[in-house]
Amino acid sequence: MSNHLRSRRTRLAVRGGEKAVTQPPPRWPRSGAWEARMMANVVRSGRWSWLGPHERAFCEEFSAFIGSRYALALANGTVTLQCALQAVGVEPGDEVIVPGMTWVATAQAAIDIGANVVFADVDLETLTLDPAAFERAITGKTRAVIPVHLYGCMCDMDALCSIARKRGIKVVEDAAHQHGSCWKGKGAGALGDAGSFSFQQSKVLTSGEGGAVTTNDPEIYRTVFALKQVGWAPTDLKKSLYEPLEPANRYGHNYRMTEMQAVLLRGGLKRLEGETLRREKRAVQLREGLEAIGGPLRVARRDPRITRQAYYGLTLVYDSSCAGGVSKQAFAYALTAEGCPVGNPYWPVYRSPLLNLYDRTSPIPYRDPEAVQDYRNLRLPHTERAFNDTALVLGHVHLLGSESYIRQLLDAVRKVSDHLSEVQAAWDAQQRKAR
Ligand SMILES: Cc1ncc(COP(=O)(O)O)c(C=O)c1O
Repeated sequence: MSNHLRSRRTRLAVRGGEKAVTQPPPRWPRSGAWEARMMANVVRSGRWSWLGPHERAFCEEFSAFIGSRYALALANGTVTLQCALQAVGVEPGDEVIVPGMTWVATAQAAIDIGANVVFADVDLETLTLDPAAFERAITGKTRAVIPVHLYGCMCDMDALCSIARKRGIKVVEDAAHQHGSCWKGKGAGALGDAGSFSFQQSKVLTSGEGGAVTTNDPEIYRTVFALKQVGWAPTDLKKSLYEPLEPANRYGHNYRMTEMQAVLLRGGLKRLEGETLRREKRAVQLREGLEAIGGPLRVARRDPRITRQAYYGLTLVYDSSCAGGVSKQAFAYALTAEGCPVGNPYWPVYRSPLLNLYDRTSPIPYRDPEAVQDYRNLRLPHTERAFNDTALVLGHVHLLGSESYIRQLLDAVRKVSDHLSEVQAAWDAQQRKAR
């Protein structure tokens, strides 16, 4: 190999060198011949919505997969949270505890039904709700907590559920990131009073848009049913989960799912277990590979009580003290340029412009500043530190790659770790250009 070629290979991609990762990332979303066939049948059938056969079958298959007694299909993973919170008894003026790091919809769902959101800090490593912070945030008005199983880590459900049970607080799991994760053999979404899932396009089980509520409680099932079905619910669950319907005296809306969406979900569910096992295997390969490199990047700790980890993303921990002070942003920039796209986690939710609740133009989100936590001045130390300095995420799609693809991702990490002195300078130059 000529010196010129060798130097192009070893030079950082941010400096004009060749990328370490030459294989393309796996494609997402996926679909198979089964969905194509069923979709054509649905189109011809004229039954496109209203609790059709595919929606019913999906609800049964999904509840069996999660290990919950019931599952209901809804329009997205935000209304699922709204309906689940209402069904467990959250009323306007109640407080709902939400982790400081999550997608903004987790908080919006509670705000939209008139509840006040109280943010509590997360564990610095796993980015999930810290049980001690949850306990400190409880007041006499706390009605529910939303543990969010974020990216590639489950919450400590033993600790959270035990605190909640003692204090009479309802648990609504946000499992939008974890279709099929298990805590001591029990599925995420079946551990609390209700579970909420999103099937939006980037999720590991997807119909483009969509969501599901899971629960073991027949009353919660009936209430969510009425809330998504314009106020109507099944008369006798012992006879049928779907019909006949009667008015349930609930202010319900249309949050229904179509048969086309249900077909995509049924197809995806057939592949999900195999894909989850593959992602788990690749996560181990990355964990071991990063340990062997010994640089500033590693995979977040896995709690041994997690018996199956479904990954929406692989949660990574960055330590700048092992990188001569090179910042997380600089490292991620260089690594992404090599073809290993690592990104920031969600920003602290309380900083989202959507949580400007002090503007009267929108009557429902408006809150009396005296009555809510002061989001503008809130600073949760772990949430802030994780976002600014330590947390990175690799999307789940990459965990579907081959062993040799993962080896290339590791080559990229090794290459960036070997050129740390150039990494910060490249980032600083890029920032100057962007200004
Ligand atoms: C943690 C979390 N909760 C809730 C949602 C909301 O789901 P949807 O976009 O389907 O409304 C998302 C979506 O990305 C999410 O990541």
